[in-house]
Amino acid sequence: MNHFAIYTQWDIEPVEGRGCKLWDRHGVEYLDLYGGHAVLSVGHGHPTYVEAIGRQLAALGFYSNAVKNTLQERLAERLGVLSGYPHYALFLCNSGAEANENALKMASFHTGKQKMIAFRGAFHGRTSGAVAVTDNPAIVAPFNRTENVVFLPLNDREAVERALASGAYAGVIIEGIQGVAGIIPPDDDFLRDLRTLCSKYAAALILDEVQSGYGRTGKFFAHQYAGVEPDLITVAKGMGNGFPVAGVLIAPSFKPVEGMLGSTFGGNHLACAAALAVLEIIEHEGLIARAAALGRFVGERLAPLDAVRELRGRGLMIGIELKPEKAGLRPRILNDYRIFTGSAGAHVIRLLPPLTVAEEELQQLIDALTAMDSPQS
Ligand SMILES: Cc1ncc(COP(=O)(O)O)c(C=O)c1O
Repeated sequence: MNHFAIYTQWDIEPVEGRGCKLWDRHGVEYLDLYGGHAVLSVGHGHPTYVEAIGRQLAALGFYSNAVKNTLQERLAERLGVLSGYPHYALFLCNSGAEANENALKMASFHTGKQKMIAFRGAFHGRTSGAVAVTDNPAIVAPFNRTENVVFLPLNDREAVERALASGAYAGVIIEGIQGVAGIIPPDDDFLRDLRTLCSKYAAALILDEVQSGYGRTGKFFAHQYAGVEPDLITVAKGMGNGFPVAGVLIAPSFKPVEGMLGSTFGGNHLACAAALAVLEIIEHEGLIARAAALGRFVGERLAPLDAVRELRGRGLMIGIELKPEKAGLRPRILNDYRIFTGSAGAHVIRLLPPLTVAEEELQQLIDALTAMDSPQS
């Protein structure tokens, strides 16, 4: 059997990682400012993380949710405290799409309504409900297309109110910062308006913090810059630092319904051990405040470059929009300087490094872009 080749890939195979460094099998070193797509929150091979997973595997790697697992309670308690949501409940699952799927389901179940508002440019995952609220017709199968979803322009308060006033909408789903669209933060005022409107029209506000959460933006969640409290918050990526674990933070007004949610692997012992270790490292190393400071460091140094059309994002979720004629710089960062970065479209570089990244490592990218920043480049 061949494997199903669905990914566009770089012709590089990392076999070892430490912190923000990766090595291929020939010993060639790369700098990872992509973090495996915002996943490596605490970096490759962090000793606390490695030790915690190893210890848990030796004790008990897995048992099903048919038995008590106090690791889940510890994780909910720690996540509640560190995120500023100690009064919320936590449902554990395995991926960002699955977390969104469950949040959409809860919003609909709880309100008894069918329709959902999503935004242009949104990406929420590839499973049935998550892809239905994703604004990319190319990846939505006919089976998943539904008239229950409307895509409105980001930051258009009037359009949201017109839709919600119909009384048919169970909720609004929005990313803390739109990632795939090119690192586009919604206006803080717009998030506050969404909170007011969802409360007014009895709809659930769902914040997808799968990419923008876990301290990446300099606050635990990106929406906390706007000072709003969503009804449902989804997390994944940085939560497990590579171990598949995800969750939905659920406001106290939602009551559990027997059998509505469930998962074979969700919240298993290894996943909880990984997620607890990540939180411990984030807290112990002050990674959230660092992300804010390092974001400012990068912003100040890249803003003056001629090649840069716009810098967007917060903390260590950074979108560098290049002038269209400078799009060729992006592949050169990897080929000439051996630095992994992400992309969004042809000329936006996405920086999503581990939150443990050193200032000197970010300086390597700044030096590379500065060296290529001559009018002839
Ligand atoms: C904002 C957002 N939501 C959801 C997802 C889907 O997460 P997963 O690939 O873990 O299903 C992603 C993945 O890139 C994402 O960026």
